[in-house]
Amino acid sequence: MKNTAIIGAGVVGTAIGYLLGNAGYHITGIASRSMESASKAREFIGQGEVSTDPAGAARAAEIIFITTSDDAVRQVCREIADQDGFSPGSLVIHTSGALSVDALVSAKYKGAGTVSMHPLQSLPSVQEAVKNLPGSYFCLESEDESALNTAREMVRIFQGRELNIQLGGKSIYHAGAAVVSNFLVATIGFGLQLHESAGIDRQDSLNALLPLIQGTLKNIEKMGIPAALTGPIARGDAQTVQDHLASIARENPDLLGLYCQLGRYTVNLALEKGTLKKEAALQILDLLQEYG
Ligand SMILES: NC(=O)c1ccc[n+]([C@@H]2O[C@H](COP(=O)([O-])OP(=O)(O)OC[C@H]3O[C@@H](n4cnc5c(N)ncnc54)[C@H](OP(=O)(O)O)[C@@H]3O)[C@@H](O)[C@H]2O)c1
Repeated sequence: MKNTAIIGAGVVGTAIGYLLGNAGYHITGIASRSMESASKAREFIGQGEVSTDPAGAARAAEIIFITTSDDAVRQVCREIADQDGFSPGSLVIHTSGALSVDALVSAKYKGAGTVSMHPLQSLPSVQEAVKNLPGSYFCLESEDESALNTAREMVRIFQGRELNIQLGGKSIYHAGAAVVSNFLVATIGFGLQLHESAGIDRQDSLNALLPLIQGTLKNIEKMGIPAALTGPIARGDAQTVQDHLASIARENPDLLGLYCQLGRYTVNLALEKGTLKKEAALQILDLLQEYG
């Protein structure tokens, strides 16, 4: 029975409390900013004393999850430390992707172990989180081997997999994840906008592009990057690239810069793949320079 407190009764805190509770951990306390959220989480988790007193909840536990919004993690941790909510032997964990374990430094000063444990997953609701956490990767960051080992045990309970990161690398790691997840959505929006200029209905376009997107993802899964790259830049079809640039300049001039930036990155990938020869690469780079 590991006494565990959840501070920040939102999606992640509730799902983690539920999964750990099912695995035999004792959820002793659930504290949030509002009593309403704490009570809602208690209903889902099925155990734990609810309060709006993070320090009190932390004091009664050995493992303390701070699952507040990112902006509140450092401050909440400091407040708990100031009110003697941590003791040597406590383990304090946050689940933010953007924050380093350093956000928990005030707990460390009180002798607690600290670790950041970020589920690399999109978790829109508690129900989805409980379904999607199993099988997800968890990025663990700590300089404390014993804290890391306890976190690894939980990753096993979540049926997750561990992703190693060097200390201090959280911010750039999170930028990478945001680029892949958020900019994928943005890139698809970019493509839809170009299709709209060709008179294609937005929904029809999305329906038609989804098999292409899914096929591309399968290729990436099978072959990796840059091997999965196809298209005019990978082939060195400079004339096609020029036609793209001319039509975007005519129909959507505000999107030219974006096409050119992504084009330059794609030229490097194609060179790495080996299908784009140096001479064609220079020709395409000149065109991208001319338009963007
Ligand atoms: N959702 C995701 O997709 C996802 C994925 C990976 C990692 N994460 C990370 O997990 C953490 C939690 O995210 P979430 O999606 O669960 O957020 P969330 O659903 O918005 O929940 C955050 C909770 O924190 C509470 N809170 C905020 N400030 C507080 C304070 N000063 N004191 C006590 N409680 C406070 C809020 O309480 P009240 O409701 O009582 O106001 C809210 O319920 C974040 O660090 C996030 O980056 C999220």
